[in-house]
Amino acid sequence: MTTRSDSPPSESLRDRIAAELTLARKRSVRLTEAVDDDDLVRQHSPIMSPLVWDLAHVGNQEELWLVRDVGGREPVRRDIDDLYDAFKHPRRDRPALPLLGPAEARRYVSTVRDKVFDLLDGIRFDGSRLVADGFAFGMIAQHEQQHDETMLATHQLRAGPPVLAAPAPPAAAVQVAGEVLIPAGRFDMGTSTDPWALDNERPGHPVELPAYAIDAAPVTNAAYLAFVADGGYADPRWWSEPGWQHRCSAGLTAPMHWRPDGAGWGYTRFGRFAPLVPDEPVVHVSFYEAEAYAAWAGRRLPTEAEWEKAARWDPVSGRSRRYPWGDEDPTPEHANLGQRHLAPAPVGAYPAGASPLGVHQLVGDVWEWTASPFLGYPGFAAFPYREYSEVFFGSGYRVLRGGSFGTDPVACRGTFRNWDLPIRRQIFSGFRCARDVRPDETA
Ligand code: AVJ
Ligand code: FE
Repeated sequence: MTTRSDSPPSESLRDRIAAELTLARKRSVRLTEAVDDDDLVRQHSPIMSPLVWDLAHVGNQEELWLVRDVGGREPVRRDIDDLYDAFKHPRRDRPALPLLGPAEARRYVSTVRDKVFDLLDGIRFDGSRLVADGFAFGMIAQHEQQHDETMLATHQLRAGPPVLAAPAPPAAAVQVAGEVLIPAGRFDMGTSTDPWALDNERPGHPVELPAYAIDAAPVTNAAYLAFVADGGYADPRWWSEPGWQHRCSAGLTAPMHWRPDGAGWGYTRFGRFAPLVPDEPVVHVSFYEAEAYAAWAGRRLPTEAEWEKAARWDPVSGRSRRYPWGDEDPTPEHANLGQRHLAPAPVGAYPAGASPLGVHQLVGDVWEWTASPFLGYPGFAAFPYREYSEVFFGSGYRVLRGGSFGTDPVACRGTFRNWDLPIRRQIFSGFRCARDVRPDETA
């Protein structure tokens, strides 16, 4: 046994960090070992990086923040920072860069990781804000997992025979339909205390909302198909002006990866074509499509605050919880997270994950588009770098909430904010609808 001056909580924090970093790396390795070297360096879509770029970028961020900044150690490779700076090279240009090859990239990330474990062994978590509560380590574990989800989205865009497999998600255990009324009032949005919450989730602040209704579950394939079959993609009435323009120029007729299949529709998921599953949440829709569906249904997308109140507000105590089911970390009974299944689960598959008011599957399955633009909360301060969040504020990005089957629990909580452009649909994005409620409806 080693004795350290740290208290037992530091020991469990050290173990937790080691476990999160190891889990993220297992996933990165799995996603990159599933294909051959040719496939790793190829660009499967101009809006995605080659997988080998994601891998070395993950190592480079880990080197910058943990080896150099937190550890104060010598650089592993000071010559490659520019290649893996996401702001210097747009995704479409990345394959032409003199990137590390697959073998070199693998050696690089493991050299960096060895140094990080060495550093972790002796660190005390009581220094700067960057190391307090292990924040920088948590940030890097989340960063790798975010890229693991991006790599999974790249796999979905890849042509050719399937290389990934996972057990099917659980079947529906309960019937879930309709909407849930959320009473008017204040709730605490965001957080000032969650140790690994990222800068854009902070600070916690009260938000006052009028009463509203929100869908008890995400919009399903069957519901979305009714919109498609009703000619929704041909009717500008349902679309915003930029949405309709995009629908026309991109020639959209259905969610990404859908294809007519005899009399109905099917979709290709990770290389396998199958008929549409009616009660599965719709996935691979853009913000514009989600907005058009909502208009057709006589409803609207929830704001980000409405989504979060539905997910966190406890009507008994009045406080905001970490997740819909409470403060405990997600287990496989709560939510479809962590790439355990490579598909969203049917509506009703996670009764244990429902909120106290009965809103289901807010966390996991599919990212949910909200109506809200991506902005800083009142009192926002960039930490530790402006390029994580701040440079994206107010540039037309929309917020998505809740995580998908491809999101790891470490990068998903009731306060977590994701964002993307309103045209994007290569991500695992779906939505649910909401509506205003008349005061007499709540009486
Ligand atoms: C939060 C998912 C929008 O992938 O662009 C990864 C996360 N930031 N590396 C992204 C991120 C820097 C980010 N999203
Ligand atoms: Fe990154």
